[in-house]
Amino acid sequence: MKKSSEIIISMRDICKSFPLEMGGRQQVLFDITFDVRMGEFVAIMGPSGSGKSTCMNIVGALDTPTSGVYKLYGRDITNMTADELAVVRNEHIGFVFQQFNLLSKRSVLDNVMLPLMYRGLPMSERVRRAREMLARVGLEKFETYLPTQLSGGMKQRVAIARALAGNPKLILADEPTGALDSKMGNEILKFFKELNRTMGITIVMITHEFDIAKYADRLIHIRDGHINYDGAVPKTDKNL
Ligand SMILES: Nc1ncnc2c1ncn2[C@@H]1O[C@H](COP(=O)(O)OP(=O)(O)OP(=O)(O)O)[C@@H](O)[C@H]1O
Ligand SMILES: [Mg+2]
Repeated sequence: MKKSSEIIISMRDICKSFPLEMGGRQQVLFDITFDVRMGEFVAIMGPSGSGKSTCMNIVGALDTPTSGVYKLYGRDITNMTADELAVVRNEHIGFVFQQFNLLSKRSVLDNVMLPLMYRGLPMSERVRRAREMLARVGLEKFETYLPTQLSGGMKQRVAIARALAGNPKLILADEPTGALDSKMGNEILKFFKELNRTMGITIVMITHEFDIAKYADRLIHIRDGHINYDGAVPKTDKNL
């Protein structure tokens, strides 16, 4: 997939702090600035507690920064209301989480249809589209199963089908292989790579492991809430 020049994520001097119980605030992100262009596959890497998830929550419009400007598809979302952010998320972003976040009492098909609930599509169209996504992840035979009846790798594939169902151009994945053994993890990462290459889906993936970040084309490394590297994935992680 040829890289287009359209910037879809634009973070400028993003800071984030949280109130501390004993008073005062703890600053977690310091002047985070980067762009992500359409079609990129970016890994955000850093040690535990460095601020990766906090950063991803802002990128994913799940949280707002304390200061700085964040534009998604050119729209400043810094001051949007919770309802407006929910619409932005639903229309533009597919989420994949470490713990899959599937509804355990709903079938695989119901789970994949979830993002289509607010799209005003007829039921038959939602079912058709969800089945298409399940076929894409190789789980078309499992639509009536409950998530609890599937292996970890299969659950994550259901979560990816759900993320794709809303037809987003951007997938955000926070430690997507963190709950999987390395064989299943590699399968999921190869699948991300394929989605990126063949469909041009932009992927931002969070990880604390260099071996996982290597699947991406670009690495943003965070340490103590600061970006200390942003560029092509290096051959080794020894200088990060
Ligand atoms: N909602 C919150 N309220 C208060 N502090 C928070 C909140 N979310 C995160 N933090 C703090 O921000 C810091 C960074 O947390 P974050 O979850 O972003 O790290 P991380 O890089 O994702 O770590 P891990 O690899 O362990 O998931 C931590 O010190 C954490 O305690
Ligand atoms: Mg985290």
